[in-house]
Amino acid sequence: MVNPLRKLLFRGSSRENGQRPTKLEKGEVLLRAEGIVKEFPGVWTHLILDHVTFDVRAGEIHALLGENGAGKTVMANILSGFYMPSSGQIHVRGRQVSINSPKDALRLGIGMAHQETTLVRPLTVAENIALGISEFDLSYPLSKVERRVRELSQRYGLEVDPRARVEDLSAGEQQRVEILKTLYYEPYVLILDEPTSVLAPQEAEQLFSILRSMAADGRGIVYITHKLEEVMELSDRVSVLRLGKLVATKQTSQTTKEELVRMMIGDVAITPTKRGRAKKGEVALELRDLHVLGAEGSPAVDGVSIQVRGGEILGIAGVAGNGQRELVEAITGMRGVEAGRILIFGEDMTGRSPRAFADQGVSHIPEERRRIGTAEGMSLAENLMMRDYRLPPFSKRGVLDRSLISQHAQRMVSEFGIMAPDLWDTEARILSGGNIQRLILARELWREPRLIIAAHPTYGLDLKAVQHTHELFSRLRGKGSAILLVSEDLEEIFAMSDRIAVMFRGKIVDVKGARETNPDEIGLMMAGSQI
Ligand SMILES: Nc1ncnc2c1ncn2[C@@H]1O[C@H](COP(=O)(O)OP(=O)(O)OP(=O)(O)O)[C@@H](O)[C@H]1O
Ligand SMILES: [Mg+2]
Repeated sequence: MVNPLRKLLFRGSSRENGQRPTKLEKGEVLLRAEGIVKEFPGVWTHLILDHVTFDVRAGEIHALLGENGAGKTVMANILSGFYMPSSGQIHVRGRQVSINSPKDALRLGIGMAHQETTLVRPLTVAENIALGISEFDLSYPLSKVERRVRELSQRYGLEVDPRARVEDLSAGEQQRVEILKTLYYEPYVLILDEPTSVLAPQEAEQLFSILRSMAADGRGIVYITHKLEEVMELSDRVSVLRLGKLVATKQTSQTTKEELVRMMIGDVAITPTKRGRAKKGEVALELRDLHVLGAEGSPAVDGVSIQVRGGEILGIAGVAGNGQRELVEAITGMRGVEAGRILIFGEDMTGRSPRAFADQGVSHIPEERRRIGTAEGMSLAENLMMRDYRLPPFSKRGVLDRSLISQHAQRMVSEFGIMAPDLWDTEARILSGGNIQRLILARELWREPRLIIAAHPTYGLDLKAVQHTHELFSRLRGKGSAILLVSEDLEEIFAMSDRIAVMFRGKIVDVKGARETNPDEIGLMMAGSQI
């Protein structure tokens, strides 16, 4: 069957004169960015991209690496029409082009799956995808889009309901939609910005095989990640950015992880975090037969009973969409409870407000870092202090001590390595993904909270920052904090947790001591196998 959308997409675009595209020759340069400069005048004193030259060839997977704030997302946004370069040229299949909008880019065959999703929250999955179709108007049959989304999601193993509203989906599910959306338009050049940060291992594997077959088809793929294993496994070439400059482009087979780390951050040793003994403390969090409703009243958390003690990290493993999000929202006061009890340090907190949970010593690292975790239009300092500014010593008898607040915020910026031009003038909006995450970690953890509810705490962080965060969690655990760690990253779950609970379809399938199980077993349980 010829996909009608495909016909539409090929019409009147650079796939000239309505003709089908010529077969892509392996090795042909599909997209070339030359001497790209990006400035954000008045914000930064340095160039965000400093004469970067980069190309993508037919048949290759080209990884793009670099520390948080290196310029990867800005580069990808320029290639896909979200930002204009300050100077430099872009060539598509040998012809110089100017890409003024994401639709322009799509017409040229360039599609991007974003790190921070660009989906419209109140619309459904299919409606969101339809928005990118150039000829889309109200008469366009949505059922066609829905059918094709179902088809694609089956073919690619990225499970998603085309009729679900985006706002009801977890971060992982939104990520799947973001990827499906890009695949829908069948681009020549597919740019993926940290696509696997909130995907489960099986989903990531599936994505890799899709990408390989797309590359085998002659398409070119730009793959942005912090995971060196993925780079080594997946890519043909790899480029490293450092503070806006291209350090090098290499054949992946001719480099090593160690060399890539050196190119990214210089000579620093990355050592795995040691997990010492911690004395188990009192029960910090106890859930008794907790039931929480999800979108449209379906049961999302279906009778969960767990305990987490001080000095303990309980990992919750599960594929996104199995109730973890609703669980976290319920135990931080953001979502109502249908039945059951939430006890925090013995106090019944069921049905209390987020403020009450915070006052009870609960820190929350949310999965949706931009929407829930920060106030985008507020300054870095305000974002860092929004939990604490009303409390002593920052506020005394209702008077804020601005200089103390500044000092304290500045200390967090340096301790957590947050890259920003200024404390009070920088809006959170402009920080890179990993820097937003650092901001949230700093704000939520500096007080050494008694109970930490952390969803994907190292999501989007670079190697150094992941190490820093693991060490910090370990230290807090050693000091008696109780930590509930929700993640799909099994490596992280195993590196950090004392016990691991697997969540599937709203239930805890099993809880195991981290030393008594292994990633394969947990992976199977995550996929719903009965063990
Ligand atoms: N609209 C903007 N205005 C000003 N500065 C910006 C804007 N967008 C991005 N920046 C800055 O550009 C730099 C590069 O950001 P970018 O998002 O490309 O980093 P990245 O390499 O993708 O990092 P991460 O791994 O954290 O996602 C950062 O310092 C960021 O704060
Ligand atoms: Mg980024």
